[in-house]
Formats: sequence, structure tokens, C-alpha cells
Amino acid sequence: MKVTVVGAGNVGATCANVIAHKELANEVVLLDIKEGVAEGKSLDMWQTAPINLYDTRTVGSTNDYSKTAGSEVVVITSGLPRKPGMSRDDLIATNAGIVKSVTENIIKHSPDAIIIVVSNPLDVMTYCAYLTAKVDSSKVFGMAGILDTARYRAFLAEALNCSPKDIQAVLMGGHGDTMVPLPRYTTVGGIPVTELIDDEKLNAIVERTKKGGGELVNLMGTSAWYAPGAAAAQMVEAIVRDQKRIFPCCAWLSGEYGLDKIYLGVPVKLGKNGIEEIIELKLNDDEKALLNQSAEAVREVMGVLDNMKTPA
Ligand code: NAI
Ligand code: 2OP
Repeated sequence: MKVTVVGAGNVGATCANVIAHKELANEVVLLDIKEGVAEGKSLDMWQTAPINLYDTRTVGSTNDYSKTAGSEVVVITSGLPRKPGMSRDDLIATNAGIVKSVTENIIKHSPDAIIIVVSNPLDVMTYCAYLTAKVDSSKVFGMAGILDTARYRAFLAEALNCSPKDIQAVLMGGHGDTMVPLPRYTTVGGIPVTELIDDEKLNAIVERTKKGGGELVNLMGTSAWYAPGAAAAQMVEAIVRDQKRIFPCCAWLSGEYGLDKIYLGVPVKLGKNGIEEIIELKLNDDEKALLNQSAEAVREVMGVLDNMKTPA
């Protein structure tokens, strides 16, 4: 089992490190365009193996895709991260060029790979990879929902002074300020969260979650990596271990939720075939309206990509 992570920056290196520590593959290839960086980080990770006791080999590559050949899963994290004052959408032109060329190389060397996109703006970069890869949409999807629900769950655990392990939640929509956390589907040890926290506190947590990425950008001057890297690795785990886990992921919709030809965050079942099912919740009118609003925001950015004709 071989997994490739493209982009050896903050998110990519963290993701590769989690994959290695959890022994999710025999080999993890970390690839970057910056000379020596992927090799250096892979070697550093490999030197933690005797300390942390795992066998996964981490291999670095400076833009040599032959080393990625035969990868079963590829995580794309290459691209610029958001800087303070920069919206995710500002990133589109640069990152679309990067995601397109990376996807072409990946498919050339690993035509059967399942591709997980992390680069921002997430929903539209996933669309860009899909247009470029020309494979079934069950094999190209994006990571955002696991991260966004993790933030929501972490904030709730703090407010309720309980274990984050006991908080189950689902969140839908685009990876941006229009994301749709769903308190009606949030439980704490099986108890509806609305029975444990008042509306005002819950609404404040929902709002903080929507701006969760920006909060970290403002604190650190660049975007987050520990939780994003771990979230992408969790998707890799569900696939390589065929776990059939239910996660919110950025998936291609073909009529589900009344939405067509759009990448958007929805709950899916993840297993060895990639997205094995898109789960349709019975949303109420308010939730549907929020989801449609989020879809409109994503469509707007998809339109920018379509006009650029980056993946022809
Ligand atoms: P970073 O700047 O630390 O790393 C990006 C890496 O990509 C750099 O090492 C760079 O050399 C490499 N790169 C650029 N062009 C490349 C190419 N053509 N081929 C191979 N490698 C290339 O950035 P960071 O923090 O790791 O973020 C990566 C991306 O992930 C950004 O677009 C960021 O906005 C996004 N992100 C998405 C999240 C999500 O929830 N989907 C969460 C956090 C970050
Ligand atoms: C995040 O949510 C900016 O997408 C990045 O941390």
C-alpha cells in the first residue's frame, strides 16, 4: 500500500507524519517542488520511526512523480495557504494552475488512485482536480468537513467541559463562511446538544466555527496545519482500511439535495472505493435555505474557474 502526499508544507508534512505514525501504508511518498524539502522532511520523519515504533517508510521527492507510481491514495496539499486579509477565493488562479499540473502527473503515474484534495479554495480546487483527472467522481473528493466539524466539536467540548470523543456532529456546505453547521444533528454521548447548552452559546459556537480558519490565520499569520493534516489522514485511513466511515466530505453532487454538478460538503460513506454513498439528510426548510446559499457561493467561484478555462 502506497500513499502519496503532494506538497511538503505545513499541512502535507503533518498529514504524512500522521499516516506514518498510524501505519496506514507501507510507504508514504512526500513530493514538493522545493528542492530537497520533501526529502529532508521524509528523512526526519523516518528517524522518528525507531523512537515511536512504526514501520511505514517515508520517502521524499523533488517533483519526481515516478516515485509516486502505483499510489492507491493521493492527498493534494500543494498550493499557497491563505495569508491575513486574503480570502480563500483570492487563491484561485495560482492554486488552480498548481492543482491541475499536479493532478495530471498523479493520474499519469497512478491512474487508479483515489484523490483527496486539500488545497484552497477547497470546493473549487476539488472541482479542478476532477475536471483534470477525468475519472469517476467517487474517486476525487475534498477534505474540509472533517476539519470544520472537528473545530465545532472542539469548541463544544470546551463549552460543555466534556470529552471531544463524545461529540458527534455533521456540517454541510462549502468550506467557507457559508458552511452550514447542523445543531439538530449534533449529539453529546447520544444526547441532543440543544438539551445541554442554551441557544445563545450554541449560536456563538456555530459562528466561531464558520470563521474557524480565519481565527487561526489571524493568530499565526498563515493557515492551520495540525487539524487539517490529521483530518486528511483520517480520510486516508477510512479508505485504506475500508472502514465505511460516515464523514462530511466535499463530494460531487448529481441531484442529491436538489443540487446538480457541484462539489459541496455533504455526509458520505468512505471506504476502499472512495465515496461509496452520499447520504441525504431530511433537512428542514431553514437548513435547506442555508445549504442553497452556500451552494450559490461555491458556484460563483466555480464560475471563475470555468471562465479561466484552466482545466480545458
Ligand atoms: P504551505 O505553504 O506550508 O505548503 C504548500 C506546499 O506546496 C509548499 O511546500 C510548496 O512548495 C508546495 N507546492 C507549491 N506548488 C507545488 C507544485 N506544483 N507541486 C508540488 N508542490 C508544490 O501551505 P499549507 O499550510 O501546507 O497549505 C496547503 C494548502 O492547503 C493551501 O492551499 C491551504 O489554503 C490549504 N488548506 C486547506 C484546508 C482545508 O480545510 N481544505 C485547511 C488548511 C489548509
Ligand atoms: C482552514 O480552514 C484556511 O482552509 C483553511 O484552516
